[in-house]
Amino acid sequence: MFYNVGRCTIQVLEVTNQKAQARIMPVTGIHVALVTGGNTGIGYATIEFLAQKGAKVYMASRNEEKAQNAIKEIEAKLWKSSGEGENKGSVHWFKLELSDPRSVKEAGTEFLVNEERLDILVNNASHAAFGPYKLNEDGLLDVMVVNYISHFVLTETLLPLLKRTAALENSDVRIVNLSSVSHTLMKPDSFVGKDSINKQYGDSISGHLHTYENTKLANILHLKHLQTRLNAESAGITCLVVHPGAVMTVGVTGFFQSIPFVGWFLKTFLAPLFLVSWKQGAMTSAFAAAGKEIAASRKSTDEAERKKYEGAYLTPIANISEPSTYAKDERLQRELYETTMEVLREVGVVS
Ligand SMILES: NC(=O)c1ccc[n+]([C@@H]2O[C@H](COP(=O)([O-])OP(=O)(O)OC[C@H]3O[C@@H](n4cnc5c(N)ncnc54)[C@H](OP(=O)(O)O)[C@@H]3O)[C@@H](O)[C@H]2O)c1
Repeated sequence: MFYNVGRCTIQVLEVTNQKAQARIMPVTGIHVALVTGGNTGIGYATIEFLAQKGAKVYMASRNEEKAQNAIKEIEAKLWKSSGEGENKGSVHWFKLELSDPRSVKEAGTEFLVNEERLDILVNNASHAAFGPYKLNEDGLLDVMVVNYISHFVLTETLLPLLKRTAALENSDVRIVNLSSVSHTLMKPDSFVGKDSINKQYGDSISGHLHTYENTKLANILHLKHLQTRLNAESAGITCLVVHPGAVMTVGVTGFFQSIPFVGWFLKTFLAPLFLVSWKQGAMTSAFAAAGKEIAASRKSTDEAERKKYEGAYLTPIANISEPSTYAKDERLQRELYETTMEVLREVGVVS
Protein backbone atom coordinates (compact mmCIF):
# COMPACT_ATOMS: atom_id res chain seq x y z
CA MET A 1 0.00 0.00 0.00
CA PHE A 2 2.77 2.43 0.99
CA TYR A 3 4.43 1.60 -2.34
CA ASN A 4 1.26 2.60 -4.26
CA VAL A 5 0.69 5.78 -2.22
CA GLY A 6 4.34 6.67 -2.82
CA ARG A 7 4.06 6.06 -6.59
CA CYS A 8 0.87 8.17 -6.78
CA THR A 9 2.51 11.00 -4.87
CA ILE A 10 5.51 10.89 -7.19
CA GLN A 11 3.23 10.92 -10.25
CA VAL A 12 1.25 13.92 -8.91
CA LEU A 13 4.51 15.74 -8.18
CA GLU A 14 5.82 14.96 -11.66
CA VAL A 15 2.66 16.35 -13.30
CA THR A 16 2.87 19.45 -11.06
CA ASN A 17 6.55 19.81 -11.95
CA GLN A 18 5.82 19.56 -15.68
CA LYS A 19 3.04 22.18 -15.45
CA ALA A 20 5.26 24.46 -13.41
CA GLN A 21 8.23 23.98 -15.76
CA ALA A 22 6.07 24.94 -18.71
CA ARG A 23 5.53 28.29 -16.98
CA ILE A 24 9.27 29.05 -17.07
CA MET A 25 10.24 30.64 -20.34
CA PRO A 26 13.34 29.97 -22.39
CA VAL A 27 15.95 32.68 -22.02
CA THR A 28 18.38 33.24 -24.85
CA GLY A 29 22.11 32.70 -24.52
CA ILE A 30 22.78 36.40 -24.23
CA HIS A 31 20.72 36.64 -21.06
CA VAL A 32 22.85 36.86 -17.96
CA ALA A 33 21.80 35.80 -14.46
CA LEU A 34 23.52 35.88 -11.08
CA VAL A 35 22.35 33.64 -8.22
CA THR A 36 23.91 33.95 -4.76
CA GLY A 37 24.70 30.78 -2.83
CA GLY A 38 24.05 28.49 -5.77
CA ASN A 39 26.53 25.76 -4.90
CA THR A 40 23.82 23.83 -3.04
CA GLY A 41 20.08 23.69 -2.29
CA ILE A 42 17.47 25.95 -3.87
CA GLY A 43 20.12 28.18 -5.46
CA TYR A 44 21.75 25.18 -7.18
CA ALA A 45 18.43 24.02 -8.65
CA THR A 46 17.56 27.60 -9.70
CA ILE A 47 20.85 27.83 -11.59
CA GLU A 48 20.16 24.47 -13.22
CA PHE A 49 16.72 25.69 -14.40
CA LEU A 50 18.08 28.94 -15.80
CA ALA A 51 21.05 27.31 -17.54
CA GLN A 52 18.73 24.67 -19.00
CA LYS A 53 16.68 27.51 -20.48
CA GLY A 54 19.78 28.97 -22.13
CA ALA A 55 21.03 31.62 -19.71
CA LYS A 56 24.63 32.42 -18.86
CA VAL A 57 24.49 32.03 -15.08
CA TYR A 58 26.94 33.16 -12.42
CA MET A 59 27.06 30.98 -9.32
CA ALA A 60 27.94 33.59 -6.70
CA SER A 61 29.41 31.68 -3.78
CA ARG A 62 32.34 31.79 -1.39
CA ASN A 63 34.02 28.40 -1.72
CA GLU A 64 35.75 27.66 -5.04
CA GLU A 65 35.96 23.90 -4.62
CA LYS A 66 32.27 23.53 -3.74
CA ALA A 67 31.33 25.86 -6.61
CA GLN A 68 33.44 24.08 -9.24
CA ASN A 69 32.09 20.67 -8.19
CA ALA A 70 28.53 21.96 -8.40
CA ILE A 71 29.19 23.56 -11.81
CA LYS A 72 30.64 20.31 -13.17
CA GLU A 73 27.55 18.42 -12.00
CA ILE A 74 25.11 20.95 -13.50
CA GLU A 75 27.00 21.10 -16.81
CA ALA A 76 27.05 17.31 -17.09
CA LYS A 77 23.26 17.29 -16.61
CA LEU A 78 22.83 20.09 -19.16
CA TRP A 79 24.72 18.20 -21.86
CA LYS A 80 22.84 15.00 -21.11
CA SER A 81 19.37 16.57 -21.15
CA SER A 82 19.67 19.01 -24.08
CA GLY A 83 18.40 17.96 -27.48
CA GLU A 84 20.26 18.40 -30.75
CA GLY A 85 20.57 22.06 -31.72
CA GLU A 86 18.99 23.18 -28.43
CA ASN A 87 20.34 26.31 -26.83
CA LYS A 88 22.38 25.35 -23.77
CA GLY A 89 23.29 27.87 -21.14
CA SER A 90 26.48 27.98 -19.14
CA VAL A 91 27.45 28.29 -15.47
CA HIS A 92 30.40 30.30 -14.13
CA TRP A 93 31.79 30.75 -10.64
CA PHE A 94 31.73 34.26 -9.21
CA LYS A 95 33.47 34.64 -5.86
CA LEU A 96 31.19 36.24 -3.29
CA GLU A 97 31.66 36.28 0.49
CA LEU A 98 28.52 37.73 2.05
CA SER A 99 29.79 38.04 5.61
CA ASP A 100 31.62 41.29 4.75
CA PRO A 101 29.68 44.04 2.91
CA ARG A 102 32.97 45.65 1.83
CA SER A 103 34.06 42.56 -0.10
CA VAL A 104 30.55 42.35 -1.61
CA LYS A 105 30.91 45.92 -2.86
CA GLU A 106 34.31 45.05 -4.38
CA ALA A 107 32.97 41.88 -6.03
CA GLY A 108 29.96 43.74 -7.43
CA THR A 109 32.21 46.49 -8.80
CA GLU A 110 34.37 43.87 -10.52
CA PHE A 111 31.25 42.33 -12.05
CA LEU A 112 30.34 45.72 -13.54
CA VAL A 113 33.72 45.84 -15.26
CA ASN A 114 33.51 42.33 -16.70
CA GLU A 115 29.88 41.93 -17.79
CA GLU A 116 27.91 43.89 -20.33
CA ARG A 117 24.46 43.01 -19.07
CA LEU A 118 22.60 41.50 -16.14
CA ASP A 119 19.01 40.37 -16.70
CA ILE A 120 18.32 38.35 -13.55
CA LEU A 121 19.61 38.80 -10.00
CA VAL A 122 18.53 36.18 -7.45
CA ASN A 123 19.48 37.02 -3.85
CA ASN A 124 19.22 33.46 -2.57
CA ALA A 125 22.08 32.66 -0.14
CA SER A 126 21.46 32.55 3.57
CA HIS A 127 23.07 31.95 6.91
CA ALA A 128 21.61 28.85 8.57
CA ALA A 129 18.56 29.43 10.77
CA PHE A 130 20.30 28.38 13.97
CA GLY A 131 22.74 30.17 16.24
CA PRO A 132 24.55 31.17 18.17
CA TYR A 133 24.73 34.39 16.18
CA LYS A 134 27.33 37.03 16.89
CA LEU A 135 28.16 40.65 16.21
CA ASN A 136 30.93 41.08 13.65
CA GLU A 137 33.84 43.55 13.86
CA ASP A 138 31.55 46.32 12.61
CA GLY A 139 29.08 45.62 15.42
CA LEU A 140 26.54 44.11 13.01
CA LEU A 141 24.73 40.79 13.53
CA ASP A 142 26.28 38.11 11.29
CA VAL A 143 22.98 36.54 10.18
CA MET A 144 21.52 39.97 9.24
CA VAL A 145 24.70 40.82 7.31
CA VAL A 146 24.67 37.62 5.22
CA ASN A 147 20.90 37.40 4.66
CA TYR A 148 20.04 41.04 4.14
CA ILE A 149 22.73 43.75 4.38
CA SER A 150 25.18 42.17 1.93
CA HIS A 151 22.40 41.39 -0.53
CA PHE A 152 21.32 45.03 -0.25
CA VAL A 153 24.91 46.09 -1.06
CA LEU A 154 25.16 43.63 -3.96
CA THR A 155 21.87 44.84 -5.44
CA GLU A 156 22.77 48.52 -5.08
CA THR A 157 26.20 47.94 -6.64
CA LEU A 158 24.73 46.05 -9.59
CA LEU A 159 21.80 48.45 -10.11
CA PRO A 160 23.51 50.60 -12.78
CA LEU A 161 24.06 47.46 -14.90
CA LEU A 162 20.55 46.15 -14.23
CA LYS A 163 19.12 49.52 -15.27
CA ARG A 164 21.27 49.65 -18.41
CA THR A 165 20.08 46.16 -19.34
CA ALA A 166 16.45 47.17 -18.68
CA ALA A 167 16.86 50.02 -21.16
CA LEU A 168 17.79 47.58 -23.97
CA GLU A 169 15.14 46.58 -26.47
CA ASN A 170 13.12 43.45 -25.51
CA SER A 171 14.79 43.13 -22.12
CA ASP A 172 12.96 41.78 -19.06
CA VAL A 173 15.03 42.50 -15.97
CA ARG A 174 14.10 40.88 -12.65
CA ILE A 175 15.43 41.12 -9.12
CA VAL A 176 14.39 38.26 -6.84
CA ASN A 177 14.85 38.05 -3.06
CA LEU A 178 14.40 34.77 -1.22
CA SER A 179 12.38 35.18 1.97
CA SER A 180 10.32 32.77 4.05
CA VAL A 181 6.71 32.43 5.16
CA SER A 182 8.12 32.51 8.68
CA HIS A 183 8.51 36.30 8.28
CA THR A 184 4.83 36.47 9.30
CA LEU A 185 5.85 35.75 12.90
CA MET A 186 7.76 39.04 13.15
CA LYS A 187 5.89 42.12 14.40
CA PRO A 188 8.50 44.86 14.84
CA ASP A 189 7.47 48.35 16.05
CA SER A 190 10.15 50.01 14.00
CA PHE A 191 13.38 49.61 12.04
CA VAL A 192 14.91 52.84 13.29
CA GLY A 193 18.53 52.53 14.45
CA LYS A 194 21.19 49.83 14.41
CA ASP A 195 19.63 47.96 17.36
CA SER A 196 16.57 47.15 15.27
CA ILE A 197 18.59 45.20 12.71
CA ASN A 198 20.86 43.67 15.37
CA LYS A 199 17.90 42.50 17.41
CA GLN A 200 18.24 38.99 18.86
CA TYR A 201 15.33 37.07 20.32
CA GLY A 202 17.14 35.02 22.96
CA ASP A 203 19.46 32.07 23.04
CA SER A 204 16.89 29.29 22.67
CA ILE A 205 16.10 27.39 19.46
CA SER A 206 12.93 29.45 18.92
CA GLY A 207 14.87 32.62 19.79
CA HIS A 208 17.44 31.82 17.09
CA LEU A 209 14.65 31.09 14.65
CA HIS A 210 13.00 34.48 15.39
CA THR A 211 16.31 36.27 14.84
CA TYR A 212 16.58 34.55 11.43
CA GLU A 213 12.92 35.40 10.68
CA ASN A 214 13.71 39.09 11.26
CA THR A 215 16.24 38.85 8.39
CA LYS A 216 13.60 37.24 6.16
CA LEU A 217 11.19 40.09 6.94
CA ALA A 218 14.02 42.48 5.98
CA ASN A 219 14.29 40.68 2.59
CA ILE A 220 10.66 41.59 1.80
CA LEU A 221 10.84 45.15 3.14
CA HIS A 222 13.98 45.66 1.01
CA LEU A 223 12.40 44.30 -2.14
CA LYS A 224 9.19 46.29 -1.84
CA HIS A 225 11.05 49.54 -1.12
CA LEU A 226 13.34 48.84 -4.08
CA GLN A 227 10.35 48.35 -6.40
CA THR A 228 8.90 51.69 -5.25
CA ARG A 229 12.24 53.43 -5.89
CA LEU A 230 12.68 51.83 -9.32
CA ASN A 231 9.11 52.66 -10.34
CA ALA A 232 9.69 56.30 -9.41
CA GLU A 233 12.53 56.29 -11.96
CA SER A 234 10.52 54.28 -14.53
CA ALA A 235 13.42 51.81 -14.55
CA GLY A 236 11.33 48.99 -16.04
CA ILE A 237 12.64 46.37 -13.57
CA THR A 238 10.38 43.83 -11.84
CA CYS A 239 11.22 42.97 -8.23
CA LEU A 240 9.80 39.77 -6.74
CA VAL A 241 10.10 38.04 -3.41
CA VAL A 242 9.81 34.28 -2.99
CA HIS A 243 8.93 31.85 -0.23
CA PRO A 244 10.21 28.57 -1.69
CA GLY A 245 8.26 26.17 0.57
CA ALA A 246 9.77 23.68 3.00
CA VAL A 247 12.77 22.24 1.18
CA MET A 248 15.19 19.46 2.15
CA THR A 249 18.46 21.45 2.10
CA VAL A 250 21.58 21.46 4.27
CA GLY A 251 20.30 24.64 5.92
CA VAL A 252 17.11 22.93 7.05
CA THR A 253 18.60 19.57 8.02
CA GLY A 254 21.32 21.47 9.90
CA PHE A 255 18.58 23.28 11.81
CA PHE A 256 16.93 19.97 12.77
CA GLN A 257 20.26 18.58 13.85
CA SER A 258 20.83 21.57 16.13
CA ILE A 259 17.84 20.53 18.25
CA PRO A 260 19.11 18.60 21.30
CA PHE A 261 18.07 14.94 21.82
CA VAL A 262 15.46 14.68 19.02
CA GLY A 263 17.44 16.42 16.26
CA TRP A 264 18.79 13.27 14.62
CA PHE A 265 15.35 11.63 14.68
CA LEU A 266 13.68 14.72 13.16
CA LYS A 267 16.30 15.00 10.45
CA THR A 268 16.30 11.31 9.54
CA PHE A 269 12.64 10.34 9.82
CA LEU A 270 10.42 13.42 9.96
CA ALA A 271 12.13 15.80 7.49
CA PRO A 272 11.81 13.48 4.44
CA LEU A 273 8.05 13.23 5.05
CA PHE A 274 7.26 16.89 4.53
CA LEU A 275 10.26 18.54 2.88
CA VAL A 276 10.38 18.74 -0.92
CA SER A 277 13.41 18.29 -3.20
CA TRP A 278 15.75 21.14 -4.27
CA LYS A 279 14.24 21.03 -7.74
CA GLN A 280 10.67 21.32 -6.50
CA GLY A 281 11.76 24.03 -4.05
CA ALA A 282 13.43 26.07 -6.80
CA MET A 283 10.36 26.26 -9.05
CA THR A 284 8.98 29.47 -7.59
CA SER A 285 12.43 31.12 -7.75
CA ALA A 286 12.82 29.99 -11.38
CA PHE A 287 9.35 31.31 -12.18
CA ALA A 288 10.14 34.67 -10.53
CA ALA A 289 13.40 34.85 -12.49
CA ALA A 290 12.04 33.73 -15.87
CA GLY A 291 8.30 33.03 -15.68
CA LYS A 292 6.36 33.48 -18.91
CA GLU A 293 3.28 35.02 -17.25
CA ILE A 294 5.46 37.73 -15.71
CA ALA A 295 6.88 38.59 -19.14
CA ALA A 296 3.35 38.67 -20.60
CA SER A 297 1.98 40.81 -17.79
CA ARG A 298 4.79 43.38 -18.25
CA LYS A 299 3.60 43.91 -21.82
CA SER A 300 -0.10 44.28 -20.99
CA THR A 301 -1.91 47.47 -21.94
CA ASP A 302 -4.07 47.11 -18.83
CA GLU A 303 -2.37 48.95 -15.96
CA ALA A 304 -3.48 46.59 -13.17
CA GLU A 305 -2.30 43.56 -15.17
CA ARG A 306 1.00 45.29 -16.01
CA LYS A 307 1.69 45.98 -12.35
CA LYS A 308 0.51 42.57 -11.12
CA TYR A 309 3.96 41.16 -10.41
CA GLU A 310 5.68 44.36 -9.27
CA GLY A 311 6.88 43.79 -5.72
CA ALA A 312 4.84 40.56 -5.61
CA TYR A 313 5.31 37.90 -2.95
CA LEU A 314 5.24 34.43 -4.51
CA THR A 315 4.62 31.14 -2.73
CA PRO A 316 4.79 27.57 -4.17
CA ILE A 317 4.30 26.99 -6.92
CA ALA A 318 4.44 30.44 -8.53
CA ASN A 319 1.35 31.88 -6.80
CA ILE A 320 0.95 35.53 -5.87
CA SER A 321 0.25 35.66 -2.12
CA GLU A 322 -0.06 38.29 0.59
CA PRO A 323 2.91 38.79 2.90
CA SER A 324 2.30 40.05 6.44
CA THR A 325 0.92 43.55 7.06
CA TYR A 326 4.33 44.39 8.58
CA ALA A 327 6.08 43.41 5.34
CA LYS A 328 3.74 45.72 3.42
CA ASP A 329 4.17 48.64 5.84
CA GLU A 330 5.75 51.48 3.88
CA ARG A 331 6.97 53.16 7.06
CA LEU A 332 8.95 50.02 8.04
CA GLN A 333 10.26 49.71 4.45
CA ARG A 334 11.52 53.31 4.56
CA GLU A 335 12.97 53.00 8.07
CA LEU A 336 14.88 49.85 7.15
CA TYR A 337 16.28 51.53 4.03
CA GLU A 338 17.42 54.58 6.02
CA THR A 339 18.95 52.51 8.83
CA THR A 340 20.77 50.32 6.30
CA MET A 341 22.22 53.35 4.52
CA GLU A 342 23.24 54.77 7.91
CA VAL A 343 25.15 51.63 8.98
CA LEU A 344 26.73 51.29 5.53
CA ARG A 345 27.97 54.90 5.76
CA GLU A 346 29.34 54.07 9.22
CA VAL A 347 31.37 51.12 7.89
CA GLY A 348 32.48 53.07 4.80
CA VAL A 349 30.59 51.06 2.17
CA VAL A 350 28.58 54.06 0.97
CA SER A 351 29.70 57.67 1.14
N1 LIG B 1 15.06 25.37 2.60
C1 LIG B 1 13.89 25.83 2.99
O1 LIG B 1 12.99 25.09 3.40
C2 LIG B 1 13.62 27.32 2.98
C3 LIG B 1 12.40 27.79 3.48
C4 LIG B 1 12.14 29.14 3.45
C5 LIG B 1 13.07 30.01 2.90
N2 LIG B 1 14.25 29.53 2.42
C6 LIG B 1 15.20 30.50 1.85
O2 LIG B 1 15.65 30.03 0.58
C7 LIG B 1 17.00 30.42 0.36
C8 LIG B 1 17.85 29.21 -0.01
O3 LIG B 1 17.77 28.31 1.08
P1 LIG B 1 18.47 26.88 1.08
O4 LIG B 1 17.76 26.09 2.12
O5 LIG B 1 18.60 26.38 -0.30
O6 LIG B 1 19.93 27.27 1.62
P2 LIG B 1 21.14 26.27 1.97
O7 LIG B 1 20.97 24.95 1.33
O8 LIG B 1 21.33 26.32 3.45
O9 LIG B 1 22.36 27.00 1.26
C9 LIG B 1 22.76 28.26 1.69
C10 LIG B 1 23.66 28.84 0.64
O10 LIG B 1 24.10 30.12 1.10
C11 LIG B 1 25.52 30.14 1.04
N3 LIG B 1 26.09 31.01 2.06
C12 LIG B 1 25.92 30.95 3.41
N4 LIG B 1 26.69 31.88 4.00
C13 LIG B 1 27.36 32.53 3.00
C14 LIG B 1 28.31 33.58 2.98
N5 LIG B 1 28.77 34.16 4.11
N6 LIG B 1 28.79 34.01 1.78
C15 LIG B 1 28.38 33.43 0.63
N7 LIG B 1 27.48 32.42 0.59
C16 LIG B 1 26.98 31.98 1.76
C17 LIG B 1 25.94 28.71 1.28
O11 LIG B 1 27.28 28.52 0.85
P3 LIG B 1 28.25 27.44 1.58
O12 LIG B 1 27.88 26.11 0.99
O13 LIG B 1 29.61 27.92 1.23
O14 LIG B 1 27.94 27.50 3.05
C18 LIG B 1 24.91 27.99 0.41
O15 LIG B 1 25.28 28.05 -0.94
C19 LIG B 1 17.46 31.11 1.64
O16 LIG B 1 17.37 32.51 1.47
C20 LIG B 1 16.46 30.64 2.68
O17 LIG B 1 16.27 31.60 3.72
C21 LIG B 1 14.56 28.20 2.45
